[in-house]
Amino acid sequence: KQLTFELQNLLHTCPRHLREAAESDLNAFEKLFGRFVNEPGPCVEWDNIQKLEEGTVPKYSELQGPEASTVKAMLNKLVVVKLNGGLGTSMGCQGPKSIIPVRSDLTFLDLTVQQIEHLNKTYGCRVPLVLMNSFNTDEETKKVIRKYQGLQVDMYTFNQSRCPRINKESLMPIPRTCAEDDNLEGWYPPGHGDFYQSFYNCGLLDWFISQGKEYVFVSNIDNLGATVNLSILNFLLGGQRAGQCHFLMEVTDKTRADVKGGTLIKYENKLRLLEIAQVPKDHIDDFKSVKTFKIFNTNNLWIKLKAMMEVLVNGELDMEVIVNHKTLDNGLNIIQLEQAVGGAVKCFSGSLGLNVPRSRFLPVKKTDDLLLVMSNLYCLQQATLSMSPLRMFDTTPLVKLGSQFGRVQDFVRRFSSIPDMLELDHLSVSGDVTFGKGVVLKGTVIIIANHGDRIDIPAGAILENKIVSGNLRI
Ligand code: UTP
Repeated sequence: KQLTFELQNLLHTCPRHLREAAESDLNAFEKLFGRFVNEPGPCVEWDNIQKLEEGTVPKYSELQGPEASTVKAMLNKLVVVKLNGGLGTSMGCQGPKSIIPVRSDLTFLDLTVQQIEHLNKTYGCRVPLVLMNSFNTDEETKKVIRKYQGLQVDMYTFNQSRCPRINKESLMPIPRTCAEDDNLEGWYPPGHGDFYQSFYNCGLLDWFISQGKEYVFVSNIDNLGATVNLSILNFLLGGQRAGQCHFLMEVTDKTRADVKGGTLIKYENKLRLLEIAQVPKDHIDDFKSVKTFKIFNTNNLWIKLKAMMEVLVNGELDMEVIVNHKTLDNGLNIIQLEQAVGGAVKCFSGSLGLNVPRSRFLPVKKTDDLLLVMSNLYCLQQATLSMSPLRMFDTTPLVKLGSQFGRVQDFVRRFSSIPDMLELDHLSVSGDVTFGKGVVLKGTVIIIANHGDRIDIPAGAILENKIVSGNLRI
């Protein structure tokens, strides 16, 4: 009650022209908060986890490609949504993450738009591209996408909700006013689970259904492997099973690097996304085990639009609340309540996982990942990255760059050109290190500049199974 009162007060501070949007945001938040305070902890009963049945997670390799004559019609039933609410702060950038250049001076957004344009031109279809922005990314994204006018891509944007952060002790909202120029630290976008309600609220869900669209492909904009895939589309829309799968989550085999990723389980007779936050403490090791849970969620989701509408209209949308603890710049401890888009899998009947190749999961979270995707390990064709045929192994090298490389700006300054990494297994760099032009890295390379030292790898150097430390070379 106290919270409702505080939220009403906030709403009264809102300029008239923003009132409607603010009301919808605060409603979304009130629901989220209600679930947080009223529902029991997020843990699952470990012993009630059921075995995944045969056929619940088919393998991508078993899918058949579409017949050429059907492709255009199938693509015309598809909408592509990219989750674009996130900032580039984890790589030291201000503004939307999607406008960071990742390969050949092209940004995540450029690559996505070019991919869709290529599809539309090749098949003579009209696949629209929709960006889910947040209040953090909307203004700048809208400025940037003007440059795509005239391309063969229909672009749409909509905004996810803006929720107030809450004080960890009092559980009351941090912001005192809703005004546009209010301190932005008081607000946050409540995770990508917000997609469903916001997509519905803005009218796009209805609009696309009325246009004959049937499925939406939703993915993280920072996953360079999340491209429109015709075999998956054919699986959903072709043949006898057409339209039967209402929700398809692409999962991929877990390696030791992915132990924290959410996995698919069967629980209460439904497919469910199990995130680490929902795991009882004494089962965390089981959760992380690569043997017990062999797959994890890539966040590439294919959802039937009419089924989504039904779930929303019937009030059946139900996703776990993720409690994210943070400390603001002023030292205040806050919590923000979030939801994950994959969490809705349990609300859909006819949901499936699909075990896809690792190539469909190529996220760029840190500059370590940036180094890989910028290098000759990958080829860029029609705006899509694929592993170079010149790489001898299926796996990518393990790269660990030190904090001096953490910001994109510093990363770019420290590499005169991106090294040749075709034969690299493992690279670890720490301290004040720079790379000259045309460096070749092979095998395991470790470069450590101690505090006060600086190491400049000279142009043209070939480092193969080398440890470089201080002035010492072993
Ligand atoms: P994150 O980078 O925050 O998540 O967002 P993550 O570390 O991959 O982990 P998961 O996927 O949450 O498990 C992933 C994508 O979701 C968008 C980001 O822009 C990014 O493309 N996102 C995230 C939103 O659109 N809104 C949000 O509130 C949060």
